Amino acid sequence: MAIRNIVPDTDEVMHKVCRPVAKIDDKIITLLDDMVETLKKAEGVGLAAPQVGVLRRIFVINTMEEPEEFIEFINPEIIETSGTQEGSEGCLSIQGFEGFVVRPMKVKVKALNRFGEEFIFEGEELMARACCHESDHLDGKTIRDTCEYEVFREDD
Ligand code: NI
Repeated sequence: MAIRNIVPDTDEVMHKVCRPVAKIDDKIITLLDDMVETLKKAEGVGLAAPQVGVLRRIFVINTMEEPEEFIEFINPEIIETSGTQEGSEGCLSIQGFEGFVVRPMKVKVKALNRFGEEFIFEGEELMARACCHESDHLDGKTIRDTCEYEVFREDD
């Protein structure tokens, strides 16, 4: 496993629509391993493949539970949303930026795991936000595009 560089949102790779994964081969498995390692190191909640320069529909989420658990999503699709929540959100690709966003309170995401098996993840609150945030990355959208406005904190 290796830590990959996280690309900033100024990189054009962050603004392109990612392609679905057609075959889960060794390259994809290595990518997943590296993304988990990179997310762990960055102490973030989620990381999408374009953030490490790969235009594939993949993201990983840290459930923020004890012990740490990472969920890998291949070709994810948000199939259901309910409720709303709002708050400020940051992104590993945009250091020092926080945006005010409105997101669903709950989401259901359908995806494949690394074995090619379909699963459904149900996320609430932070997990719902993370799934929406990372899904946006796969469509070339960052928090700058989805937020209502930038949040400035007093300690910045
Ligand atoms: Ni992000």
